[in-house]
Amino acid sequence: MLDKIKEKINNNAPLDKKDILKLIALLTTEKKQEIYNLADNLRAKIMGDEVFIRAIIEFSNFCRKNCDYCGIRGKNKNVKRYRMTEEEIIDNCLKVEKNGFTTVVLQSGEDMYFNKEKMGYIISEIKAKTKLAITVSAGERDIETYKFWYDCGMDRYLLRFETSNKKIFQKIHPDDDFDFRIQCIKNLKSIGVQTGSGFMIGLPEASFEDIADDILLCRELALDMIGVGPFIPHPDTPLGVNILKYDFDFYSGIIAILRLVNPYSHIPATTAFDALQKNGRDLLLQRGANIFMPNATPQKYRKFYLLYPDKPCVDEGADDCSRCVIYRITRLGRKIGKGPGHSVLNKKNDA
Ligand code: SAM
Ligand code: SF4
Ligand code: FES
Repeated sequence: MLDKIKEKINNNAPLDKKDILKLIALLTTEKKQEIYNLADNLRAKIMGDEVFIRAIIEFSNFCRKNCDYCGIRGKNKNVKRYRMTEEEIIDNCLKVEKNGFTTVVLQSGEDMYFNKEKMGYIISEIKAKTKLAITVSAGERDIETYKFWYDCGMDRYLLRFETSNKKIFQKIHPDDDFDFRIQCIKNLKSIGVQTGSGFMIGLPEASFEDIADDILLCRELALDMIGVGPFIPHPDTPLGVNILKYDFDFYSGIIAILRLVNPYSHIPATTAFDALQKNGRDLLLQRGANIFMPNATPQKYRKFYLLYPDKPCVDEGADDCSRCVIYRITRLGRKIGKGPGHSVLNKKNDA
């Protein structure tokens, strides 16, 4: 069964939904190690041994939305809200560069205080003062705003579609529309922004078939980066009573399959994997991932950006995480990526 799929991968033939469902089923058998190895080899062949680092600054936990899974949803009264000042954000970007990193990710709740102009100013200042590549992840905005930020120097944007199942999406997003979410992702791509999206694994009611569709939607959207992580229930949310559906090996196996279907996309070892298992992100780097996103948020804010329980690195500061990430990557025999680590989707077109 796996041999036919291996042959397809060796011949650069695209895997179809049937193949993906077969691979998902095999994750619950002893064959899972073979799937991890296939993904690791493909990652090495296409993306090489470099691990690119994207330092993430969580600059505001205000959010106008109420996604049913998220610990910082607007209606969660147990969250102490914070907003970093413009100067603080810029200063922390300078620190990221000083620590030797080449990309910063500015992430927040959907906080409209950071409107088109304010965010545009921050992006322009970072561009003027550093050589950093800038990724923003601040939710759904209109195309004019995305375009303005791109013109100010924004290189990339992250906006997950969360699930490809429209029914489930509508059920858990009281403020959102699935088609609009997809349109935002397409708008970003059309402007020329390197676009990242992705989904959560193990949402309530999501089936294996939904996971296969999630993986295929990533390919259909031709994403530069694909951020995927386990759904971890937060007790202060409507989905907080659910329990983790799968074990670490299954969740990480989905990342391996994601790599097999999307050989040319950057795939981060997302933070939530460390919440499931100590050094979970290291294992992910050996199962298809090639990006690490250490936390560069000032330590005093970290405990207020708890999307899910047991979020890692809450007691550490930016310098701790930057030292730690270098140790973790080199210990695996991998190299820290040099340069900004831009999209390699164009490599696919040349192949
Ligand atoms: N507000 C922006 C947005 O929604 O795109 C960016 C920040 S949001 C907190 C970043 C990501 O956190 C979401 O795309 C979602 O997938 C993830 N997230 C939120 N709650 C989670 C949970 N309970 N378990 C795992 N991931 C979660
Ligand atoms: Fe807000 Fe993003 Fe959380 Fe939704 S996932 S509640 S938009 S921070
Ligand atoms: Fe934060 Fe290891 S990555 S302490």
